Amino acid sequence: MSKTIETIGIIGAGQMGGGIAHVSALAGYKVLMYDISSDRIEKGIATISGNMARQVSGGKLAEDERQKALSRIQPAHQIADLAAADLVIEAATEDETVKRKIYAQLCPVLNPTAILATNTSSISITRLAAQTDRPERFIGIHFMNPVPVMKLVELVRGIATEDGTFEAAKEFVHRLDKTTTVSEDFPAFIVNRILLPMINEAIYTLYEGVGSVEAIDTAMRLGANHPMGPLQLADFIGLDTCLSIMQVLHDGLSDSKYRPCPLLVKYVEAGWLGRKTGRGFYDYRGEHPVPTR
Ligand code: CAA
Repeated sequence: MSKTIETIGIIGAGQMGGGIAHVSALAGYKVLMYDISSDRIEKGIATISGNMARQVSGGKLAEDERQKALSRIQPAHQIADLAAADLVIEAATEDETVKRKIYAQLCPVLNPTAILATNTSSISITRLAAQTDRPERFIGIHFMNPVPVMKLVELVRGIATEDGTFEAAKEFVHRLDKTTTVSEDFPAFIVNRILLPMINEAIYTLYEGVGSVEAIDTAMRLGANHPMGPLQLADFIGLDTCLSIMQVLHDGLSDSKYRPCPLLVKYVEAGWLGRKTGRGFYDYRGEHPVPTR
């Protein structure tokens, strides 16, 4: 049985890692944030500070709670600084080679009783667990973007994940005031297995000239009551992440219905990855987003 979780280590200070640090600190956990450069960690913490300020101005958070939460987040400049963590959540790029390299560096320094979790949105938990020294204390804890707003977290057990690990992960998520759903370890789990083919289909709809970017997004916002249109959502998730999830579905299930739309591939090849690079299906560099097709 693992000891009580008090300190969370987070690998990756991007939008997902930052969001997980944000909600963990607000729930009272100590957070150690690691990324490949101090600059990235600083930027990640600045974004968290800004997002918490948004919650303060929206009346969802008191300013003193924001200050206390921010003081619970400390940078981990070396991966060895994560030795103090009871639970480490890896939220690095959705690339199996990158994740493997991180686990190889992390496992030797990690406390032997610590739980290692991945925020992967599609890669096999069993296969990732096999790259570590602790498959029984390895689990998928998959958050949705934007983490401070979205209520759901998917829990995914690998073949070797012990009950104690699963229970500890569930307790952690509940302390964040989020709801868990349990998914079996199959490509892209539940949310992305359903959501990403819908987004890919929206890109095919654009590619085949059925509708413009605006027509497709308006159709789904007003015709299906989605908070964002599918192309807007694709830009929000990141087109590189969308493509890699479609590739995992296509390779993992060997069904042509999951083939990534060539237009998605083209945008990724152009480096037009959505909001994070300033351009995707919309151009975000001006005052208002403008469709790029
Ligand atoms: N941090 C803190 N608060 C945030 C935030 C953030 N990053 N982003 C938004 N908010 C808050 C805003 O401050 C605002 O709060 P108030 O109600 O107090 O004003 C509230 O959320 C709503 O935001 P906005 O008014 O700016 O805009 P909105 O009403 O359009 O909502 C949205 C924004 C919540 C993102 C909404 O558009 C939405 O739900 N979109 C769909 C998101 C979605 O589908 N996410 C899942 C993606 S898939 C995934 O994540 C899995 C994967 O692996 C790829």
